[in-house]
Amino acid sequence: MFDFSEKTAFLTGAARGIGRAIALGLAKGGAKIVLCDINEEALAATAREAEALGAQVLPLRVDVACEEAVRAAIKQAEETFGKIDILINNAGIYPVSDFVESKSEDWKRMIDINILGTMYACHAALPGMLARGYGRIVNIGSVAGHYGLSYFVDYSMTKGAIISFTRALAKAVTPKGVTVNCVSPGSIDVNGIKKNTQHSFTGREGTPEECASVVLFLASDEASYVSGQEYLVDGCRKLM
Ligand SMILES: NC(=O)c1ccc[n+]([C@@H]2O[C@H](COP(=O)([O-])OP(=O)(O)OC[C@H]3O[C@@H](n4cnc5c(N)ncnc54)[C@H](O)[C@@H]3O)[C@@H](O)[C@H]2O)c1
Repeated sequence: MFDFSEKTAFLTGAARGIGRAIALGLAKGGAKIVLCDINEEALAATAREAEALGAQVLPLRVDVACEEAVRAAIKQAEETFGKIDILINNAGIYPVSDFVESKSEDWKRMIDINILGTMYACHAALPGMLARGYGRIVNIGSVAGHYGLSYFVDYSMTKGAIISFTRALAKAVTPKGVTVNCVSPGSIDVNGIKKNTQHSFTGREGTPEECASVVLFLASDEASYVSGQEYLVDGCRKLM
């Protein structure tokens, strides 16, 4: 477990799945946490779980596709807790699609959430981080962005953008004390189905906690010499 007792973290897509596991990991480490999501009921449940672990929690209904809402949430987080040390951009959607049959309005919605949502939060949180000379940004990519997957053509594009955004932003802000990294999950079981999978040499899907543990490392002080990197958490993926 990492020590986040002096830290404030801002996490998107916190209500369920990988985001919930990250939220609970931050809570166990003693962080103050701002949890953002559009699913208010699930968000409230995750916030209660984090509070039960002793964390100070600020749950906010935020659609990351809305620039004004993201900027207002970052401002509220800074006013409430004084600073943001850790920003984790996890909110994302990943509908399976046949590219030829897909519609441009669906690509645009995915770009708004998966790419622009991450950019809005980084852009709003960075001035405070740079002024204090400390920050940890962790963006969530995907094996789809790393390899390109035929049933996720538009989604692969959005996550490929996150991976290159991470590399470029790291070069801009690492000299000022802010690290920027990306975690690209493979097949993670967010519904508790525990499927076997032929996509991984482990023969199984990963758990949200197995993904969160890598995110938490990159969010910690221990990852001080790691920046601009993409970590694949895919159980040694088989390329198909
Ligand atoms: N589960 C996997 O196998 C897998 C694999 C690769 C990448 N990922 C990525 O990991 C991240 C988390 O995925 P997950 O599997 O936990 O998904 P999930 O659907 O279980 O959880 C995503 C959360 O994000 C929230 N969300 C969706 N749109 C939002 C918006 N516009 N604003 C704010 N919150 C929003 C949802 O309400 C939900 O709580 C995503 O970025 C996803 O692309 C997941």
